[in-house]
Amino acid sequence: MSLDNLAIEYRAELPAAEEFVRLFRSSGWTEAFGVAADRLAATLPHAWYAVCARCGGQLVGTGLVLSDGVLHALIVNVIVVPEVRGHGIGTEIVKRLVARCQEEGLLQVQLFSARGKRGFYERLGFVARPDDGPGMELSGLLSERP
Ligand SMILES: CC(C)(COP(=O)(O)OP(=O)(O)OC[C@H]1O[C@@H](n2cnc3c(N)ncnc32)[C@H](O)[C@@H]1OP(=O)(O)O)[C@@H](O)C(=O)NCCC(=O)NCCS
Repeated sequence: MSLDNLAIEYRAELPAAEEFVRLFRSSGWTEAFGVAADRLAATLPHAWYAVCARCGGQLVGTGLVLSDGVLHALIVNVIVVPEVRGHGIGTEIVKRLVARCQEEGLLQVQLFSARGKRGFYERLGFVARPDDGPGMELSGLLSERP
């Protein structure tokens, strides 16, 4: 896939189940998480906000926000298909997710950086939480972590 002749269109919408599962698989996380396609698709209706990037109508990127609508937002499933990475699509998706959270006046916008993606998020203004107030998770739920 080449971006030379095709514009990327960004829409505030949920991806369809099949295209989301395909995109998710391109991230390599499916194996790591061991989640079946129907279970992956079942996550979509829980999104508070979502952005899809399309190239010629085809889904090439997503980003979703889970939120309580007032205090907390968690950015998840920021994924761009490998063929078009490095062209600013992921950056644009995250900016749009953050803009929506700011519009709503949410107090905290958080995410888990995948391995090697810390610099990507730092350039977008995210900072690691301090050592005396870290993000935490229950250990041992996933043995292989992306
Ligand atoms: C993380 C991810 C979404 C980034 O998407 P992307 O569209 O490649 O993101 P961008 O193009 O905006 O930025 C990626 C890199 O390309 C660079 N870049 C952006 N626009 C560019 C351009 N026009 N020319 C050259 N490089 C560019 C950025 O500086 C950035 O550098 P980095 O690799 O050092 O971070 C993508 O790598 C991905 O889907 N990875 C697998 C899933 C994943 O790990 N998601 C993160 C979950 S926490």
